Amino acid sequence: MKKIFLILILVLAILGINHKSYAEEKNMINAKKLVVYFSKAGEQYSVGNITEGNTAIIAKIIAAKTQADIFEIKLKNDTYPTAYKALTEVALQEKKTSARPEIADKIDNFADYDVIFFGTPNWWGDMPMALYTFIEANDWTDKTVVPFVTHEGSGLSSIPSKIKTATGAKVLDGLAIYGHVAQNERDEAEENVINWLNKLGL
Ligand SMILES: Cc1cc2nc3c(=O)[nH]c(=O)nc-3n(C[C@H](O)[C@H](O)[C@H](O)COP(=O)(O)O)c2cc1C
Repeated sequence: MKKIFLILILVLAILGINHKSYAEEKNMINAKKLVVYFSKAGEQYSVGNITEGNTAIIAKIIAAKTQADIFEIKLKNDTYPTAYKALTEVALQEKKTSARPEIADKIDNFADYDVIFFGTPNWWGDMPMALYTFIEANDWTDKTVVPFVTHEGSGLSSIPSKIKTATGAKVLDGLAIYGHVAQNERDEAEENVINWLNKLGL
């Protein structure tokens, strides 16, 4: 009995040692990477008036750690209120009507990238509608998408599965990080990002 138990432990240990992440199996460490994100400065929940958005902070850390290019999704005509409460109302209305706000720029060489880190604030359990505009304007064939979300309590919500449905791409485990941690506890935020990247093998 003891012998069987020991063999079982050994088999599990070997399986554990040989376990490779999807990114490691596909050798994605050298893949061409892009960080795409949306983020909003101005008044934000729990952090007051900020000059750099919470998601932007995380996006820049990821780009620096993975040597990825970086692209910020901006609205062509940004009429969003800077006051938090007013913004939540506009955002809710956009979500209810499945709005597709026009975005300012496009990425000409999107086809060149293999791995797309896709960063968004959690707005009403979803992404800002402009992110759907971006998704629908690009071809996601053969892309691997890695979501990251800043939030103030809701975590990832179902954002990764929404990204999966909208892109049809392979979606890896997402990172959820509190906006106020990104904004005010940068060391902790950076540590979270590094742990997550290591786990993914990216
Ligand atoms: C319109 C709007 C809706 C939000 N809805 C949620 C929500 O449903 N759940 C949550 O945890 N946080 C919510 N938040 C908080 C943001 O997700 C959080 O502050 C985030 O870090 C903002 O990121 P940014 O500075 O990059 O835009 C909302 C914020 C806004 C502006």
